[in-house]
Amino acid sequence: MKNFTYYNPTKLIFGRGQVEQLKTELAQYGKKLLLVYGGGSIKRSGLYDEVTKLLEEMNIEVFELPGVEPNPRISSVRKGVDICKKEGIEFLLAVGGGSVIDCTKAIAAGAKYDGDPWDIVTKKAEVKAALPFGTILTLAATGSEMNSGSVITNWETNEKYGWGSPLTFPRFSILDPVNTFTVPKDQTINGIVDMMAHVFEHYFHLETNTPLQDRLCESILQTVMETAPKLLNDLQNYEYRETILYCGTMALNGMVQMGFTGDWATHNIEHAVSAIHDIPHGGGLAILFPNWMKHNLSVNPARFKQLAVRVFQVDPTGKTDEEAGLEGIEKLREFWNSIGAPSRLAEYNIDESSLDLLVDRAMRQGEFGVFKKLTTEDVLAIYKASL
Ligand code: NZQ
Ligand code: ZN
Repeated sequence: MKNFTYYNPTKLIFGRGQVEQLKTELAQYGKKLLLVYGGGSIKRSGLYDEVTKLLEEMNIEVFELPGVEPNPRISSVRKGVDICKKEGIEFLLAVGGGSVIDCTKAIAAGAKYDGDPWDIVTKKAEVKAALPFGTILTLAATGSEMNSGSVITNWETNEKYGWGSPLTFPRFSILDPVNTFTVPKDQTINGIVDMMAHVFEHYFHLETNTPLQDRLCESILQTVMETAPKLLNDLQNYEYRETILYCGTMALNGMVQMGFTGDWATHNIEHAVSAIHDIPHGGGLAILFPNWMKHNLSVNPARFKQLAVRVFQVDPTGKTDEEAGLEGIEKLREFWNSIGAPSRLAEYNIDESSLDLLVDRAMRQGEFGVFKKLTTEDVLAIYKASL
């Protein structure tokens, strides 16, 4: 393992009816609040009414930023920053999925910065301060509710980048599985793929002696794979929603990634696809990840074999590590197919005419990947295999 310091200040408030805790949490902050939400799901589910009623009871002055897009855009961040600066906002409350939370993080940092918030996303400007914020999560997927990362798209330039700061952890996050009951089947699938992909990004690293980290990762994968088919047949089942929600948070809150640096190349490759074609993040990962795995199987076949044997029940008898590893990758593809995730870019009408632009955007911030540093040729090969 590498030396490490673990830091995660987010208070996680989990379970049925926990939205009530908003009163206790908000009592510590100011009276001017910006409520950030998406395209309307919280109005349809009734959560908006529940939250605004609580805020009214607390005599909090509420400003609103509705309409945050999936794959949130810098234009929404700029709107939020303008409101914060003009109105002297003291606290932000994100109610929604990862996109709403990521947008809120960028607004929180942007509100304390004099220039354009895109400078923060592109890391031209360092985050020196941020407004405090909390979240009420409505979709199990990104882990953004308990990490400091944020991913923002610039639709004018077709760029999408992740950034983060120790100052952009949510102060609290309220996770009630009931608030995820209304997530439609396709978004539920995207979320399941995304949380599994986060575990894979951790799993493929170059450090030695990480036995507990390996098993923590494997147990999240096993739990998700055991629960996902049951949940997809019974979308309003509290226990299945609860399990998946908890898995999503644990997959990217730092708990399983101590002592090593994960790969994260597939996320970069996917972000380029959604920056240009605006596809759901989880859908893109389902297409790309097995192809990243096949492309890099030879880097450490024993690692792929371990995953195949422990998570995908591959029998390694009489097989080389590469053969067993490849069987595991094929089982992953079968599993994602079985739950209805996409497997080809063509399913989003993306064809080879996009390849040059995709590679250009993926490589814009230089070579990336830890398990294997990817060159332009590697990235092109992975996209081609995914068409
Ligand atoms: O906008 P509304 O109307 O709320 O609808 C959303 C949206 O259309 C809907 N939805 C959310 N909760 C719902 C619901 N519909 C019905 N009932 C509910 N309870 O679902 C759609 C997708 O929402 P979105 O927030 O975009 O999904 P997700 O949570 O998967 O977030 C995806 C974004 O997060 C980034 C992705 O790149 C993408 O931009 N990521 C953020 C990460 C992080 N901050 O740590 C890590 C991830 O790897 C990821 O890159
Ligand atoms: Zn992701």
